Amino acid sequence: MTEGCRILIVYYSRAGTTQRVAELLAAELDADLEPIRERAGAKPRDGARGFAKSVIDALCRRRTEVMPPLLDAAAYELVVVGGPVWAGGACAPVRAWLEAYGARIHHLALFCCEGVGGSEAALEQMSKAAGKTPLATCAINGRDLYGRRDGDKRDEFAQKIRQRLAARRETEWLV
Ligand SMILES: Cc1cc2nc3c(=O)[nH]c(=O)nc-3n(C[C@H](O)[C@H](O)[C@H](O)COP(=O)(O)O)c2cc1C
Repeated sequence: MTEGCRILIVYYSRAGTTQRVAELLAAELDADLEPIRERAGAKPRDGARGFAKSVIDALCRRRTEVMPPLLDAAAYELVVVGGPVWAGGACAPVRAWLEAYGARIHHLALFCCEGVGGSEAALEQMSKAAGKTPLATCAINGRDLYGRRDGDKRDEFAQKIRQRLAARRETEWLV
C-alpha cells in the first residue's frame, strides 16, 4: 500500500473505458489501483464470442472466478469499485469480486460506465453483491464521454466521496 493512501480503487474493464476512469479517479483521490483479473484459463472476453459470453454471464448471473487481489481491501478506509454495464446489469467479474471480497470493505463507493443505460440496476446489483450500501455512486455514459462531461462527473463523485468520508470519520470519532 502507498504510504498514507487510504483509498483503493478496484475496477474491471473489458475495452479500456472503465480503466481510464479508474486511473483518473485514482489521481484525483490519491488512491491505489487494483484491476480485477479473471482466473487463468477463463475463456477470453474479446471478439464476438467474448461479447456474447459476457452478455450471457451478465443476464444469467453466471459465476466467474477472479484472481485473489494483490492489495487487501481491509487495509483501506474506503474502496471504490467500478465496472462496465453489461446487458442492463453489473458485469460478471465485478459481481464475482464483490461477492468474494465485499466483506473486507469498510466503506464502499461504486461507479459504472455504460453506453446508454442500465447503470441503476448495475449499481444496485454491485451493492447487493458487496452486502453494503455505497457512500457515493457515479454513472458515466457514452454521451458524457463524447460531450467531455465525464470530468465534471468524476470531480463531483470524488468530492462526494471526500465529504462523506470526512463526515463518517467525525461520527466514528464521536462514538
Ligand atoms: C457484453 C457487453 C454488454 C453491454 N451492455 C450494455 C448495456 O446493457 N447498456 C449499456 O448502456 N451499455 C452496455 N455495454 C457497453 C458498455 O457498458 C460500455 O461501452 C462501457 O463503457 C465499457 O466499459 P469498458 O471499456 O471498461 O469495458 C455493453 C458492453 C458489453 C461488452
